[in-house]
Amino acid sequence: MKRSKLVVANWKMHLNVHQASLLVNRLDKKIAIYRDVEVVLAPNFICLQPISMELDKRKFRLASQDGYFVDEGSYTGAISFSQLRELVHYSIIGHSERRRYFNESLDVVRDKVAAAVRNNITPILCVGETREERNQKETKQVLHDQIVSALSNLTSEDVENLVIGYEPVWAIGGKEPAKPDTIAQAVSWLRYQIGELYGEKVAKSVRIIYGGSDEPEYVNGIMAIEGVDGLLVGHASLNYVQFADIIERVHHSRVIGNEE
Ligand code: PGA
Repeated sequence: MKRSKLVVANWKMHLNVHQASLLVNRLDKKIAIYRDVEVVLAPNFICLQPISMELDKRKFRLASQDGYFVDEGSYTGAISFSQLRELVHYSIIGHSERRRYFNESLDVVRDKVAAAVRNNITPILCVGETREERNQKETKQVLHDQIVSALSNLTSEDVENLVIGYEPVWAIGGKEPAKPDTIAQAVSWLRYQIGELYGEKVAKSVRIIYGGSDEPEYVNGIMAIEGVDGLLVGHASLNYVQFADIIERVHHSRVIGNEE
């Protein structure tokens, strides 16, 4: 099956309900319905419900930025994937900011991925190396460990539908994304790993998107990299003009290495 293009807006801990609603409204006016690009918005938890009511579902889908791995119980402050299942199609899981500031271990990420899947939510699993790991030439090992661990409780059918976000930690929140060579190597390594674990068919179905300082001017270059199916956009997704520009450019791009 041909993989569809995907652009995800990770709004992180920005925007209150009013601001988020305003942004959706402006975006909605600015972009057309693109049948070839899935546009996914990931607001904070409190914005999900109000935004889901006003969203044009032909243009946008929703994602949560996290979720807890137990479905129900006495876990003060937590929100489970079973509570999110009516609201979102996707959940961002294992973002480096969660791993770093909330001490999410490989095991926690694995359990969250499994919990999302059992609640019919598609994980957008984020993986990526830190600057230090890159300098130590550990990128392949780090990506391997993150992937093998996170997917270890899934069937190949589950993995087929998954989205993987390659986000080198050192490129997040900057002015420039990683160089095309770096992205190309990581993406092909990730697909190779999936192939080794789950076979060729699964490796060809998984969507891999790139995140880390995605700005409009870099979109064509990133989308020209073999195997890149879209983008995970942070700060540029808070600006509706920039984000609409990004979506438009992805719409005009062709995914390389995505034969039917
Ligand atoms: P950025 O964030 O686009 O601001 O670098 C991307 C992300 O962290 O998902």
